Amino acid sequence: MGFVIAVDGPAASGKGTIAGRLAREYGLPHLDTGLLYRAVGLKVLEAGGSLDDAEAAQAAARGLDARTLSDDLRLTTGEAGEAASRVAGHPGVRAALLTLQQDFAAQAGGAVLDGRDIGTVIAPDATAKLFVTATPEVRASRRWKQLTARGDAIALEDMLADIRRRDERDAGRGAAPMVQAHDAALLDTTDLGIEAAFDAARRIVEAARARHGL
Ligand code: C5P
Repeated sequence: MGFVIAVDGPAASGKGTIAGRLAREYGLPHLDTGLLYRAVGLKVLEAGGSLDDAEAAQAAARGLDARTLSDDLRLTTGEAGEAASRVAGHPGVRAALLTLQQDFAAQAGGAVLDGRDIGTVIAPDATAKLFVTATPEVRASRRWKQLTARGDAIALEDMLADIRRRDERDAGRGAAPMVQAHDAALLDTTDLGIEAAFDAARRIVEAARARHGL
C-alpha cells in the first residue's frame, strides 16, 4: 500500500474539510466515502423504495457510478445524510462498496479517504489514521450554519437531534460501526478553527510518515 491517509469521525466533525486539505497538501486523490452511501440512499428514495429494504439498497450500491458523485448538490442535503446512514447499516450495501473504496486506497501514489470505517475496515494498513471528533453541540451548530447559509430552513435543535440520532445509528450498527481504530490519533476539533485543526492533522500525518520512514 502506498501513502494512505484514513480520516474517520462523526458527521460535521470537520473530517471532510481536513481530508480535502490534506489531499491538496500532499498531492493525493481524495475520496469522500460518505458520498457513496448518500448516493445509494438517494437512489433508493428516488426509485420509491424503502430504506429498510436491504435488497433494493444493495442493488443500488452495485450499480453506483462513483465518477458522477462529486458535483451532485443533492447529495449534500440532510435528507441524503439521513438516508445514507440508514442504508449504511445493511451489510450487503457495505460489501458492494468495498472493492471500489479499496481500489481507490490502493492507487500507486496513495490516497486520502474519509468516512466512518476507513481505518478499521477499508484501509487497516493506512500510513496515517485520524479520528476527528467534536461535541454534538458544536457539530450541530457548524452544520446548521452551512445549511442555513445556502437557504435550507432548519432549526438548530432539530439539527442537534439529527446529529445525535446519526451518531447513535452509526456507532451502534453491527456492520462496520463507527469506532476509533486502536492505532488512530484522536483529533478533537471542538475548540479549533479550520486552520488550527488542519495544522494538528498535518502534525499527526508527519509523525506517522516519520514512523513509516516515508
Ligand atoms: O460523512 P457523511 O455524513 O457524508 O456520511 C453519511 C452517512 O454515510 C453516515 O452517517 C454513515 O452512516 C454512512 N457512512 C458509512 N461509512 C463510511 C462513510 C459514510 O457508514 N465510510
